[in-house]
Amino acid sequence: MIIDLIAREILDCRGNPTVEVELFCDNNKSYIASVPSGASTGSREALELRDGDERYHGKGVLKAVKNVNEIIKPAIINKKVNVLDIDNIMIKLDGTENKSKLGANATLAVSLAVLKAAADYDNKELWKYLSTSKATLPIPMMNVINGGAHADSGLAIQEFMIVPVVSKFKERLRAGSEIFHTLKTLLKKDGYHVAVGDEGGFAPSLKSSDEALRYIVKAIEQSGYVPGKDVFIALDVAASEVYNKDTNTYRIDSRLMTPRELLKYYSELVDKYPIISIEDPFYENDFDSFKIMTSVLGNKIMLVGDDFFVTNSKCLQKGIDMNAGNAIIIKANQIGTVSETIETLILAKKNNYIPIISHRSGETEDTFISDFAVGLCIPYIKTGSLSRGERISKYNQLLRIEEKLEKL
Ligand code: PGA
Ligand code: ZN
Repeated sequence: MIIDLIAREILDCRGNPTVEVELFCDNNKSYIASVPSGASTGSREALELRDGDERYHGKGVLKAVKNVNEIIKPAIINKKVNVLDIDNIMIKLDGTENKSKLGANATLAVSLAVLKAAADYDNKELWKYLSTSKATLPIPMMNVINGGAHADSGLAIQEFMIVPVVSKFKERLRAGSEIFHTLKTLLKKDGYHVAVGDEGGFAPSLKSSDEALRYIVKAIEQSGYVPGKDVFIALDVAASEVYNKDTNTYRIDSRLMTPRELLKYYSELVDKYPIISIEDPFYENDFDSFKIMTSVLGNKIMLVGDDFFVTNSKCLQKGIDMNAGNAIIIKANQIGTVSETIETLILAKKNNYIPIISHRSGETEDTFISDFAVGLCIPYIKTGSLSRGERISKYNQLLRIEEKLEKL
């Protein structure tokens, strides 16, 4: 039973406020959960409630904290530790389509804390509690070059990821780390800066996406791996950020492209490089271009909806009905509760959309996505590059889980 809870304002990895909840239960234990925050957010995401006053440049979350302490708390005190029940109470209390009354940062922090408590009441670790029959380790998509809204590299594409598919998770992590460090050496040798962006990847001021891709392929090879066999490449264009509504064009590096030209550009990249996945290739409302791209490239690569679907089953259903995309990013804070996150995940799996669980660019030290990946058998995880503690903590949790699974 829940006997008390307290919400507090903590900081995320960018030094911006976010919500943490500590839940106290009748087993004399407490459970802590915190929520991440995005920089290139989709407009259909659930609302992240921020104060908008003079504190923290308007980014304070004291309203969300107050909503937990004064509205949610009285409604769930003395209730059983049951995620579905507690989520339903909060969804009703909120009563809006996008959690705009309570804030998705308020509801998710509570939902996650309840989930952690429920696992412990069952005497299980979170990943084990979430798993029905089997548990699998995900393939990481590691964001080694940062552009777009995550860095001032000048690169238009937000994320250039390496995807090691070698057999064990610990070997995937090793490959990622080795390639990351080789890449650093290569960039440094050519006089580029090797300071890292928000997700721990390098942010060199390269001239084009092509150049970034060439460096990555070289780094894979020089680390002793075979591109297109051991290690693939994935892109997150986050195209809403480079879209001009007035001209219906996209600025990719120095080129301005129509949707049709952009599709041709993607096809050329896919022919030239070992790319297995492109995320948000068009701006969030251009489902038509996303659909055309799926008919052209959908049997070759993953076409991933992030801002398109925002972990919302209704938005995903639109994609399913239109045949737009074949994969989906799962971010719990886009929808605001654990139950609704799992509902979208189930819908995706049922319709053969490949799920990819994901961090946000503003993260905390909470590693729940690692447990979700394993317990819910999510085949891919995006949790950044091979640096910065808030990214590495997710990888380290996956190492611990793999070790335990091997002993079973
Ligand atoms: P965000 O970016 O967390 O800054 O929104 C991540 C992504 O677009 O996948
Ligand atoms: Zn994205």
